[in-house]
Amino acid sequence: MADDRKLAFAPFATPDAGVLIVFCEEGLKFGSATRKALAPADAQIKRAAEGEKFTGKSGSILDIAAPTGLKVARLVVIGAGKGGKLKSQDYVKLGGIAMGKVPSRAAAATIFAEFAGGSLKPDQAAELALGTQLRAYVFDRYKTKRKEGEEAPEKPAITIAVANASQAKKAWEQSREPVADGVIMARDLINEPANVLYPDEFAKRCGALRKLGVTVEVLDVPAMKKLGMNALLGVGQGSRKDSRVVIMRWNGGKKKDAPVAFIGKGVCFDTGGISIKPASGMEDMKGDMAGAACVVGLMHALAARKAKVNAVGAIGCVENMPDGNAQRPGDIVKTMNGQTIEIINTDAEGRLVLADVLHYVNTRDKPKFMIDLATLTGAIIVALGQEYAGMFGNDDRLCDRLTRAGQDTMERVWRMPLGPEYDKQIDSKFADMKNTGGRWGGSITAAQLLARFVDKTPWVHLDIAGTALGSPQTDINKSWSSGWGVRLLNQLVEDHYER
Ligand code: BES
Ligand code: MN
Ligand code: ZN
Repeated sequence: MADDRKLAFAPFATPDAGVLIVFCEEGLKFGSATRKALAPADAQIKRAAEGEKFTGKSGSILDIAAPTGLKVARLVVIGAGKGGKLKSQDYVKLGGIAMGKVPSRAAAATIFAEFAGGSLKPDQAAELALGTQLRAYVFDRYKTKRKEGEEAPEKPAITIAVANASQAKKAWEQSREPVADGVIMARDLINEPANVLYPDEFAKRCGALRKLGVTVEVLDVPAMKKLGMNALLGVGQGSRKDSRVVIMRWNGGKKKDAPVAFIGKGVCFDTGGISIKPASGMEDMKGDMAGAACVVGLMHALAARKAKVNAVGAIGCVENMPDGNAQRPGDIVKTMNGQTIEIINTDAEGRLVLADVLHYVNTRDKPKFMIDLATLTGAIIVALGQEYAGMFGNDDRLCDRLTRAGQDTMERVWRMPLGPEYDKQIDSKFADMKNTGGRWGGSITAAQLLARFVDKTPWVHLDIAGTALGSPQTDINKSWSSGWGVRLLNQLVEDHYER
């Protein structure tokens, strides 16, 4: 992955070309290596800082072209606030801010990984590097025209200057580059249009994980029929593209340890089916497989950093289309675990896909826990907007751990209720349940249906309809899809489930 990544770690040395990016703490306090490198421009920096009332407040920026006595074309000073109390997420963010100051046409940039107190530690420098790579991501593979006189942009070569360069490089390669690549893999899959990324193609791309030691198993339609996955198959039956389930396994833990399991909704395109969606904004439904993309990106991250855990990733890939063979409102399907569901609205398809995949993973792998991710309901966007994902679960400890991991990665989750009181909303006249629960608490009744397919296994459902698509622009993401969830779940595993 990312063979064209131009990122190096080197000891502190004044660069003689490109952009130099340094950090300073409030009161215009630099680290000693930085001060030494900037010495020829000292008076100019002070004058510019005074003129712009720049003191080093967190996130503020002082930008100086052709700094006196330095050979670089540009000097950028980034305020790091009071320094000291930074968390790992802050280094990621600062890496993103730094990368944002590198013009796309610049040939090279050097980032001094140093605060007033001295050089960043190797793992802090690796977090900084992670921020630069997430920020640098662009999805432009379908742009064939450039502006007049513009050549295909060469990526700038980034050097991170740090005291212990070889250890920083090791921390990057062993623990943070795998995460960067996992997030980028998820973003690529989500941004990809549905004429390119349909279920079989999605399954084929999962095959790339094999070279990292992940086993990848693909269930085709006959295999799923045999298993009785009729809820999932019903969603895909109106499409010219065959459905697939992909199961990925990474065994980095002890032989007999039960695996942790991640399940993703992989609706490659959601037209709504016969209950067709309005035209406006429907193009966004190419991203209705963001949950599945996150699972694949996470499996990449875990395998590439050789995480000491047994993990299963399973995705249900279908296309929801209106067609002569499509499922109708009123149809009744029998799920793999023998329950019957009356289809009221064919646009409530995600829960049907997940029901069968959850049951399959639960019975086959007997996991320690299951976490599913799905762009499941518009209602969760109404409830929480785009900053928090909705979290539903039957296990307080797992929910608490996710809440913490969310705060640490800024991929935050907010717990929502479940309870038998909501069950009557999905009672059906004709079957065991129906697939919609009416307008009230739409995200809850969806989760309530999923709960019927997880038995007693600790389980969390993350409704990511608000966080995964049309993502708010941040310092570490400028893309339509943020790859939300890869860093969150990687953090969860890293904190609690590695031996
Ligand atoms: N994929 C959609 C949910 C969605 C909406 C995701 C907007 C991202 C952005 C899901 O399949 C869906 O259509 N849900 C319906 C359920 C309803 C018919 C009960 C919804 O939320 O309107
Ligand atoms: Mn839908
Ligand atoms: Zn959907």
